[in-house]
Amino acid sequence: MIIRQLRNTAADAEAVQRVSRAAFRDLDGRPQDDPDRPGDAAHRVRALARTRHLAVTDPDGCWIAEQDGEAVGVALSLRREGVWVLPLFVVLPSAQGRGVGRLLLERATAYGRGCLRGMLCASPSPAAARRYRAAGFTLYPTMRLAGRVDRGRLLDPGDIPVHPGGAAHLHLLDSVDRRLRGAAHGPDHPFMLAHFEELLIADTLAGTGYCYRDGGTVQLLAATSKRIAVRLLREALARVPAEQEAAVSFLTAEQEWALDVGLDLGLSVTNRGYLALRGMRPPAPYIPNGGYL
Ligand SMILES: CC(C)(COP(=O)(O)OP(=O)(O)OC[C@H]1O[C@@H](n2cnc3c(N)ncnc32)[C@H](O)[C@@H]1OP(=O)(O)O)[C@@H](O)C(=O)NCCC(=O)NCCS
Repeated sequence: MIIRQLRNTAADAEAVQRVSRAAFRDLDGRPQDDPDRPGDAAHRVRALARTRHLAVTDPDGCWIAEQDGEAVGVALSLRREGVWVLPLFVVLPSAQGRGVGRLLLERATAYGRGCLRGMLCASPSPAAARRYRAAGFTLYPTMRLAGRVDRGRLLDPGDIPVHPGGAAHLHLLDSVDRRLRGAAHGPDHPFMLAHFEELLIADTLAGTGYCYRDGGTVQLLAATSKRIAVRLLREALARVPAEQEAAVSFLTAEQEWALDVGLDLGLSVTNRGYLALRGMRPPAPYIPNGGYL
């Protein structure tokens, strides 16, 4: 087996996709993507583009394990202003439990040496939890809100204005990120702007925040106050198309403000996975995104 750097090619992006689909299908029985289902097709395009984006921004953080010329494992990591992030860590089910994950994670964490902080959204996999804890991460169990938004409970939005955001807001986004998690998302914001359905902004004298929504999923939210965060989350959930299920994931107990919004709007809460952090406490009010943190 060899471990080599990810290349910015269609073939490598497809290989990452193959390993990832097989690993997660095995973990939680996720159905295989159906290219005719609109959400799946968009998700696939975004996943391939995200791999190629990271091959450009963080080539030294992205590693593939190959056996006989076939990819069997992948670790994709990135560095942004002193925070190290692991958006993807997968090994083919047939190759798991033999140390491939350990070798990949060693390469990826070596890229994060010199970063005081680390973040990742972890699946419920016991093997992953074992690897992350061994790498010094604190595991914060997370909750997930899901279901249909009870539109009858979407009352008066209050006096904080929310408006669509775009490329003109990149400095604002980075400033909120630095305040919340000590590091901007930098090149990941233009990527998310291009790939998520909408960006919502609240910017008032009382505080500032932003939220990405894509279909029914709240993808990432950061705000300088709970009041602004609540307003943004309510607005994002109000904008979920009526026929779609809403989902908000990776909420630690620090995000009770979000739990209360979801419960008030009729969503159900379950627990699943972890927010894994090193050198920092859970940012709040903040809803992370597993792919960009
Ligand atoms: C997480 C994953 C990448 C690890 O890859 P791997 O090649 O299996 O990892 P390794 O063999 O190096 O290490 C796994 C460790 O977990 C242990 N382990 C495996 N299954 C376990 C289980 N069910 N319960 C507890 N420990 C378990 C192994 O013994 C090993 O520990 P050790 O090295 O101290 O003996 C892989 O299991 C995977 O792809 N899982 C599904 C996708 C996923 O959840 N990815 C993580 C996303 S955050």
